[in-house]
Amino acid sequence: MRAVASAPGKIILFGEHAVVFGKPALAMAVNRRARVEIRKVSEDHISITIPDLDVEGVLQPHGGLESSGTGKVGILRYITEAIKLREVPGGLEVQVKLEIPIGAGMGSSAAITVATLAALTQLQGQELDKKALARQAHQVELRVQGAASPLDTAVSTHGGMVHLHPEGKVENLEVPGQLPLVVAYTSYRGNTGELVAGVRQRREHYPEVVDPILDAMEMVTHQARQALLDGEERALGDLMNINHGLLDALGVNTPELSRMVYQARLAGALGSKITGAGGGGSIIAYAPGRMEPVLEKLQQEEEAFRVGLSHSGVEVE
Ligand code: MEV
Repeated sequence: MRAVASAPGKIILFGEHAVVFGKPALAMAVNRRARVEIRKVSEDHISITIPDLDVEGVLQPHGGLESSGTGKVGILRYITEAIKLREVPGGLEVQVKLEIPIGAGMGSSAAITVATLAALTQLQGQELDKKALARQAHQVELRVQGAASPLDTAVSTHGGMVHLHPEGKVENLEVPGQLPLVVAYTSYRGNTGELVAGVRQRREHYPEVVDPILDAMEMVTHQARQALLDGEERALGDLMNINHGLLDALGVNTPELSRMVYQARLAGALGSKITGAGGGGSIIAYAPGRMEPVLEKLQQEEEAFRVGLSHSGVEVE
């Protein structure tokens, strides 16, 4: 008995952090995926290997997790919590292939969680209900991280361009053409939980200052949606730059991210901003007609690559 499923990573275009405080966000699934293969085995333990990260783990029947390898073993918990949530009996062998850089704000943990849940659903002979799957994946993220908006798991499940509305409604947007986007990421990884807590603290200390920033982010997302649908390149770039300034004001920027953001603009990007939680991690640059020079400039110092929209969300093979 064997099941295989894959799910895409994501980038947030607009609304990170604000989304934690009930504001809308725009994000898109990208053409880099996590692929999870699960086999039923006769042994009663659950073994997990992620060769791309040099991470291995064994979950014993009594619930203890033994991990090894040089990579970030924390990622294993998303898989073990997904298995616990689905109450799959007996031994399992889980193999993960990962094309998404870990800790770069590109939703690697959400993609692994979503693909694991989908593979387990198939293994249990059940129909894939995407809405239910997205809900379960969000529960797993909450169990592991303590706090998370449903954005990453919704995008990874449904694919495409996603507008997450404040009340939790997920809307897929039909955006004309491909967006010319570059992602660049620093070697330093931000801690999402700590960054979210930092913003919360600043909001508690300076509510009259921070609340209008969150309101402005909401308006940026609102106008960006229209710019995306209308293909208004300059407005989209301007709104990204404004969003970056607002994220800086919330305290999630770093000198390295700032340098990349401005290098991208100097090389001709119309817009560039932090994507995800900040504090390290990634930036995105929107560069119609200037992809090559922007990519070259960013690659001189950090890892950078083009990203494309993935219309497909989670898929079982
Ligand atoms: C992290 O990818 C995005 C944040 O808005 C946190 C969240 O939405 O859970 C910073």
